[in-house]
Amino acid sequence: SFFAPIQDAAPPSPTKRHTIKISIIGTGNVGMAIAQTILTQDLADELTLVDALPDKLRGEMLDLQHAAAFLPRTTISASTDFSATAASDLCIVTAGARQNPGESRLNLLHRNVNLFRKIIPPLVEYSPDAILLIVSNPVDILTYVAWKLSGFPSNRVIGSGTNLDSSRFRFLIADHLDVNAQDVQAYIIGEHGDSSVALWSSISIGGVPILSFLEKRQIPYEKATLENIHKEVINCAYEVIKLKGYTSWAIGYSVANLARSILRDQRRIHPVSVLAKGFHDIDGGDVFLSLPAQLGRGGLLGVINVPITDEEAERLRESAKTILEVQAQLGV
Ligand code: NAD
Ligand code: LAC
Repeated sequence: SFFAPIQDAAPPSPTKRHTIKISIIGTGNVGMAIAQTILTQDLADELTLVDALPDKLRGEMLDLQHAAAFLPRTTISASTDFSATAASDLCIVTAGARQNPGESRLNLLHRNVNLFRKIIPPLVEYSPDAILLIVSNPVDILTYVAWKLSGFPSNRVIGSGTNLDSSRFRFLIADHLDVNAQDVQAYIIGEHGDSSVALWSSISIGGVPILSFLEKRQIPYEKATLENIHKEVINCAYEVIKLKGYTSWAIGYSVANLARSILRDQRRIHPVSVLAKGFHDIDGGDVFLSLPAQLGRGGLLGVINVPITDEEAERLRESAKTILEVQAQLGV
């Protein structure tokens, strides 16, 4: 061995420390942005990558391994075989078709449901205690599909949902008011994307509700300005896809942020896609939509019953209705 033996060394303790293992399914733009953010933030002891394309997969694995001298120590492996994911604590699913410029997320549904029928059962077989974090689009319906196919309790199946939309929202508000986005508390809830709901009623900056903040700083504002910020949140993914072909960096940070809250038991509040039936009078069936939720080692720990206006609740129920109509045709 490279090292000289240590005199009278005790044998290794039989109680092995629990290592944290994350598997990422799909090593495209999104999966790799998540992988690299997870590595730089030291969130896992083991990171396993799975994709259907063996050369691309091995290339990505080697490229990450070659950064070992600059990163916290993480064992990185890759395989096209799901057995490599065995005993994962967290499985992040990013595999699947993505939007062409101008295409809606919902348009991806049938292709990605078929893929999930191949992906979710082996993940569950090899990691029956894992938490599933779904990112592939349309994320809310695919989180429902993953929940159904997995047979997991709903606290262990979470969609990345509007954690990303809320980050875009906080950035745009911060930019508009020239403050730090981390000081902006703001939630977009509901469907990730086109029918999302902005909770103007609960936005605060440094603990001050936004509308009184604007009044105090004598900044004139109009409802149209606020509506435009929300429209920009909805449109900006389309804009990025038109400009660079896909979105990756923001979703990478957004999902790493969720992974940290879950695996390090941070008990932080995130707007993520959860089984939303029963909240805000959402009825008619099992539907996953984003609501502000507390995340920790057990997955979803609770959903905040955030006060929302009648108009916001109505929009949320409209989204739920649309999603349920689509789900009814899936036969999952
Ligand atoms: P991509 O085309 O770059 O990557 C998709 C990967 O999935 C490819 O590497 C492909 O080989 C792999 N794949 C296909 N079938 C597979 C299988 N059976 N097993 C394992 N891997 C398989 O696409 P992308 O840009 O990385 O986007 C991936 C998904 O993430 C899309 O559905 C996209 O819409 C979604 N997305 C979601 C959000 C969000 O906020 N929820 C944000 C960005 C992108
Ligand atoms: C997003 C993806 C496309 O970046 O859902 O919003």
